[in-house]
Amino acid sequence: MAKSKTLYACTECGGQAPKWQGQCPHCGAWNTLVETVATPAPARFESVAGTRSSVTPLAAVKTRASSRIATGLEEFDRVLGGGLVAGGVILLGGDPGIGKSTLLLQAGAALGAAHRTLYVTGEESAEQIALRAQRLALVNAPIELLAEVQLEAIVAAINATSPEIVVIDSVQTVYTEALTSAPGSVAQVRECAAQLTRLAKQRGIVVLFVGHVTKEGAIAGPRVLEHIVDTVLYFEGDPHSSLRLVRAIKNRFGAANELGVFAMTERGLRGVSNPSALFLSQHAEGVAGSAVVATLEGSRPLLVEVQALVDPVQGGMPRRLAVGLDAQRLALLLAVLHRHGGVETGGYDVFVNAVGGVRILEPAADLAVLMAVCSSLRNKPLPRKTLVFGEVGLAGEVRPVQRGQERIREAAKLGFERFVIPNLNKPKQPVDKTELIGVDRVDEALALLRD
Ligand SMILES: Nc1ncnc2c1ncn2[C@@H]1O[C@H](COP(=O)(O)OP(=O)(O)OP(=O)(O)O)[C@@H](O)[C@H]1O
Ligand SMILES: [Mg+2]
Repeated sequence: MAKSKTLYACTECGGQAPKWQGQCPHCGAWNTLVETVATPAPARFESVAGTRSSVTPLAAVKTRASSRIATGLEEFDRVLGGGLVAGGVILLGGDPGIGKSTLLLQAGAALGAAHRTLYVTGEESAEQIALRAQRLALVNAPIELLAEVQLEAIVAAINATSPEIVVIDSVQTVYTEALTSAPGSVAQVRECAAQLTRLAKQRGIVVLFVGHVTKEGAIAGPRVLEHIVDTVLYFEGDPHSSLRLVRAIKNRFGAANELGVFAMTERGLRGVSNPSALFLSQHAEGVAGSAVVATLEGSRPLLVEVQALVDPVQGGMPRRLAVGLDAQRLALLLAVLHRHGGVETGGYDVFVNAVGGVRILEPAADLAVLMAVCSSLRNKPLPRKTLVFGEVGLAGEVRPVQRGQERIREAAKLGFERFVIPNLNKPKQPVDKTELIGVDRVDEALALLRD
């Protein structure tokens, strides 16, 4: 192998410098130089394609039928877009203790029966993994363990045992001798992940990296890994509830934004195939400040209760707080409410919350947020079994959302009878036993909360 030496590369412009310095000599950015390995180009790129590439017409490129490898966990397969793909590299990020190792041990154990699986643990000893396996009733799982953090040793083990699936738990603990910086540094994480990714592509191995989330919420530092890998999954959930969500942020082999729902139990993670019921709190009577929205998470509609509390300001500035919803969007919606709905909230604190620790990212929840706020302010509940969705524009219009029919169908299945929805989403045919209220403007929807 060609001899490698270290140098420093700018994360902004890619320019290089022989020594570390505070400012990039090429683009002038500050604090962007990180240590990197300067392996001569042929050694660095040869391995990606296996051989030197030549220009080829697209139609002449031979493809292998990419069959999916099911992980045995239905919800995990759903997020992956149907299962693992040979040569695919996956990054699973998440907060400490959320259940990353548990998920991959369970998946590894199921995969191990048909595909040779190597679980590389850098954070825990093999004994700790065995103890977890005992708790999960997976003691006899056909999976191989390697407690190692040095990249060269891991690569040697992969070459020696030829596994089809490799779990690296976690990528932050792995380090290469070629760099002097500490394990977990941007330079180490990037280099180790890049080398393992090359190996995966070259040999058709599936590599699953566990990645830590930094304080800013990015995986493994300033998102260095997200570009290298094929699939980025985030493991999220409220640590106080047993609910765990795995969300696909990026997927080269399937739809992004797909969501897998699990419950964390003593025996490990269990898939939840009908999650809608989980995000609805059980009120016997309608309560003020609550509206249920049908949000679309990946390919599946999910019913979530949005709660609002509007309370007179107790001195000082009015507070706006959003949990599970976008705080900026809340401010925008309150302005629309004032301007186009004639509802003043300037003298009130406004708190909104998506029940169950779920995070709603799409604007389809706008109308539900507005109705929950208005309902709390007027202390008037929405009629029971009412579902609300619709995007709200700055001009006070209610815009249609994608796949409205599916949202209505899911809610009707769960017993919802009344739907406040954008007019353009209103089905042409009436839906059995349901009242469909199509609205074009915010004030039409709010009129339903008048005395
Ligand atoms: N006996 C138990 N009963 C129920 N749940 C348990 C039990 N033991 C552990 N857990 C759950 O498992 C979680 C830890 O899972 P795991 O170690 O897979 O997380 P992780 O994301 O890999 O954490 P880390 O970032 O520390 O590696 C705990 O937070 C807890 O919710
Ligand atoms: Mg772990």
